Amino acid sequence: MRVLNIGSLNLDYVYAVDHIILPGETEATGEMHIYLGGKGINQSMALAKAGVEVYHGGMIGADGQPFLDACMEYGVNAKHIQIIEEKTGHTIIQVDRNAQNSILLYGGANQCLTEAFVDQVLADFSAGDILLLQNEVNLLPYIVDKAYEKGMQIALNPSPYNEKLDAVDMSKITIFLVNEVEGGQIAGTSDPQAILKTMLEKYPHARIVLTLGKDGAVYGDAHETHFQPIFPVKAVDTTAAGDTFTGYFLAGLSEGMSIPDTLRMSAKASSIAVTRPGAVPSIPLRSEVMEALRNS
Ligand code: RIB
Repeated sequence: MRVLNIGSLNLDYVYAVDHIILPGETEATGEMHIYLGGKGINQSMALAKAGVEVYHGGMIGADGQPFLDACMEYGVNAKHIQIIEEKTGHTIIQVDRNAQNSILLYGGANQCLTEAFVDQVLADFSAGDILLLQNEVNLLPYIVDKAYEKGMQIALNPSPYNEKLDAVDMSKITIFLVNEVEGGQIAGTSDPQAILKTMLEKYPHARIVLTLGKDGAVYGDAHETHFQPIFPVKAVDTTAAGDTFTGYFLAGLSEGMSIPDTLRMSAKASSIAVTRPGAVPSIPLRSEVMEALRNS
């Protein structure tokens, strides 16, 4: 099964800080790194590293060549990544001594998708293929409608959650991958069990993955629910942990793995990602994940 991911590509400017800066405060840091990131390409990389045939659709500027090199290195098909006359999206990320982050996002080229571009990308895909989306590119409502017309399965990670998602017809989503905050926004409640119940009432045909940070993850659909605890580790940077989970979860699903096995593999993959700095470089290969699972 093929996966098309139409999503963001960001250059992440990551600064190590003692604590996340408060309003009006100045804090000096001697440590800065530029990593490849963006929820979209992070999830494509996780899929590719998990062994899935994945195509990434998106836009970058002339400064985005490192993304094309990384796609080549890890096996993400980049034929639908277009270079345009705009700056590549970027972020300013603070990572504090407890590995917590705070992210300022500049959309840049990620916000320049056109309907003609989307039509051209979707023309290569058909019923049964999976479309994966996050909320860091423009035109989500259009992309969802067009992919639905084609009979694609649509997986949505509505992150970061904002009012633009109100225009998306959520009844067309097949798989929701949400954290507590995003699930709470969709369901209108903050209790995890109530989020799952309300989302399944609203979207009875959907599969829902709800990640709960240190409290693990829950899966629910019309027939089954499963819980997966985290694998405790000493985290250095939590950036892309959720993206790693999402990519590995879809990988397991696309291979027909059982949900409990898929959840376990995804939790292990993201537990490895948080022990490494950066987004794309922190995502483990499938072989590493499987070996770590054997040893746990
Ligand atoms: O999910 C992590 C990602 O969010 C980072 O790589 C950053 O680019 C932001 O989009």
